[in-house]
Amino acid sequence: MTKKSIKAIEALEEAQRIALAPFVFQTAVSLRKLGVFSYIFDNRDKDGVSLLEISEAQEIPEYGLGVLLEMAESAGLVIKTDAKKYELTKTGYFLNYDKTVNVNINFTNDVCYKGLFHLKDAVINQKPEGLKELGSWTTIYEGLSQLPPQVQQSWFEFDHHYSDGIFTEALKTVFSKKPTHIYDIGGNTGKFALQCLSSSETISITIYDLPGQLNKALQNVRDAGFGSRIQGKEIDWLAEDPQLEKGADLIWMSQFLDCFSEEEIVKILKACVTVMDENTPLLITETFTDRQKFDNAQYVLEATSLYFTALANGNSKMYTATVFKKLVEKAGLKIEEDLKLGEYHTMLVCKKK
Ligand SMILES: C[S@@+](CC[C@H](N)C(=O)[O-])C[C@H]1O[C@@H](n2cnc3c(N)ncnc32)[C@H](O)[C@@H]1O
Repeated sequence: MTKKSIKAIEALEEAQRIALAPFVFQTAVSLRKLGVFSYIFDNRDKDGVSLLEISEAQEIPEYGLGVLLEMAESAGLVIKTDAKKYELTKTGYFLNYDKTVNVNINFTNDVCYKGLFHLKDAVINQKPEGLKELGSWTTIYEGLSQLPPQVQQSWFEFDHHYSDGIFTEALKTVFSKKPTHIYDIGGNTGKFALQCLSSSETISITIYDLPGQLNKALQNVRDAGFGSRIQGKEIDWLAEDPQLEKGADLIWMSQFLDCFSEEEIVKILKACVTVMDENTPLLITETFTDRQKFDNAQYVLEATSLYFTALANGNSKMYTATVFKKLVEKAGLKIEEDLKLGEYHTMLVCKKK
């Protein structure tokens, strides 16, 4: 980001916005949940709606609705007309209706909000100190299948939102390698496996994941009728000496390695190298911070890094492609193709050196 000079008064306003950011955030969350943004938008042809009208229609006590709308007006989420009626601003509209904003706001509120309070301690102790707000696990991944339903839903919606969209495009590269048996490392809920199996009549897949997620993924794939072509193996990459079995002619990892520290990534990739021959492609799909066209995308990725710090594991992040390339090399792999997928993703096609 370039250094830009702003007036002291603007800088002070910005500092105040940050000082009070949780108030604005919770105001937006409350107005969404109470259906106020939707009500204002649905009545947009009426030149705005009054506080009383919203209060009666949505059955919200007037006092509380009043303070929410005052904050929302100052924060630029709604405007109040001369006739004291509320209309939605463009920001208010996006907060309520934009898909990505929705996924981010639910993830922030349901998964991260309480845990972020422990961010400083997480940095100092190099542990996800915020995770205790959700459960008593060493990493969030051990607990994914046991999270409270709302937290779990927001976690999976966030995860899926940033992966699912590129699977169709990614499969073209996968199929071009003519694999017969794929290892899906960190298969999560089985979404990639499902899409792959339903697009091919011959490929079989082994998902490697922690027990909780593995069972869910296998169940989902079996329920969809692909039981004969799916297998699962439990693995914990943080264990002493995790190993894969031989047998894959393609290894797939999507949004997986960012769940680990640099040292752990090298350890995982080395374990893959031991079961690869020189023809086995290892496909790594990630959203790299230094490959984003829009500042906004980089902003989301950097916030995601803080989720890893405070809640997920305390030692991973969204990486730059520059760092990743070094890790790949260090593990004994070479990058044969460096492909852009959709707007935000990169796929590295690696082979054994
Ligand atoms: C962010 S999800 C990625 C899911 C999926 N591949 C995608 O593209 O959306 C990371 C996956 O890695 C798995 N994982 C995290 N830590 C792990 C560990 N220590 N051992 C094995 N799997 C792990 C999680 O259970 C989860 O399924």
